[in-house]
Amino acid sequence: MTADLRTQVVIIGAGPAGMLLSHLLAADGVESIVLETRSQDYVASRIRAGILEQSTVDLLRSCGLGERLEREGDRHRGIYLQWPHERHHIDFVDLTGRSVWVYGQTEVQKDLIDARTAAGQQIHYEVAETNLHDIESVHPAVTFTDVDGRRRTVRADVVAGCDGSFGPSRDQVPQHASHRWERVYPYSWFGILADVAPSTDELIYAWHGDGFALHSMRSATVSRFYLQVPNGTESKDWSDERIWEALATRLGHGQDGWELTTAPITDKTVLPMRSFVQTPMRHGRLFLAGDAAHIVPPTGAKGLNLAVADVALLAPALVDLVHKDDDRLADSYSDTALRRVWRCTHFSWWMTTMLHHGQDPFDEQLQLSQLRWVTASKAGATGLAENYAGLPIGF
Ligand code: APR
Ligand code: PHB
Repeated sequence: MTADLRTQVVIIGAGPAGMLLSHLLAADGVESIVLETRSQDYVASRIRAGILEQSTVDLLRSCGLGERLEREGDRHRGIYLQWPHERHHIDFVDLTGRSVWVYGQTEVQKDLIDARTAAGQQIHYEVAETNLHDIESVHPAVTFTDVDGRRRTVRADVVAGCDGSFGPSRDQVPQHASHRWERVYPYSWFGILADVAPSTDELIYAWHGDGFALHSMRSATVSRFYLQVPNGTESKDWSDERIWEALATRLGHGQDGWELTTAPITDKTVLPMRSFVQTPMRHGRLFLAGDAAHIVPPTGAKGLNLAVADVALLAPALVDLVHKDDDRLADSYSDTALRRVWRCTHFSWWMTTMLHHGQDPFDEQLQLSQLRWVTASKAGATGLAENYAGLPIGF
């Protein structure tokens, strides 16, 4: 196969994982080419979760991506956990000395695109038919059709599979050499975006007999909400009126004088919930990072944070591999990354199963007991705070 492009690392996917990887590699003098099936506009505008944990913010700041985050991000001390007639604040700063930031992951993506574009990063958008070759050799390749319909081949030292949950990379790891772990949940999230000032200073996670609800936010004038809905729900089944009614009931409008302000809804999307891990996260010269290797349900907002943590480990490993032919960090990448992946997989599963309403009255009593313990006991609250605000990278 004759290659018309040559680089050190070919990165499949221009999501947060792929773009941050190209940024960190460039800072250490490693060249990369990024391939992306979607258009730049699409990637820069898709709606994503809105919480950055402490170590994500620390990393973005340390690599020169913290400027707008500093100006526009909103630092939160903690979250509210509630169930009917009770609302409790969990203060992460008091409990762990760490906090979280409300800064849309869409904004992180835009900052990454701006930084990489300004640096002259080679990014091929709107590519098709991406195929991986020779990943068990030291010179793997990726073929693709570019935006002008030309068939191209890029030869590299390493392929980074940052292509999310539907990309081709993870399937390249032979079945006999990998394992897939999965949990599907019997409910989905219905995400709602509204042009309204948040009715709360920090996020509210609400358990309710009708189903879970979350009050989040994007800015002083934009709020984000989620409702637990049955699998198979379609946005058109829910009028704006029905949405506001459900949010008011589940979030406790009228209780202790708290009020939910309503306004025009600008977006409605149903999101499936899934936990998924593929192990190991490396095969030969293919390294997986972010959603390509693992998916968490959104309760706890770990998706992007976990992708950032992967890349923080992967970048120095690839720098050593490519520059010094030193494969020690590359060899330990998967095991090290998976320790955090499983911690976050457990935390996301735990938050999800504690807060979502099911069919079983026994489960309901366990959930309420767990919520009481987490909010009343310093040990319980600290466990939640430590996981939510995020353990240090390398934990
Ligand atoms: N060729 C090139 N690019 C591809 C291909 C392919 N065959 N298949 C998928 N992609 C692209 C997708 O279009 C997407 O832009 O890979 C990118 C993967 O990006 P994300 O889905 O954002 O995944 P990741 O970068 O791992 O981000 C992790 O960030 O915002 C959060 O919730 C999000 O959990 C996710 C997290
Ligand atoms: C969001 O703001 O989109 C968000 C916040 C917290 C979550 C999930 C999503 O747990």
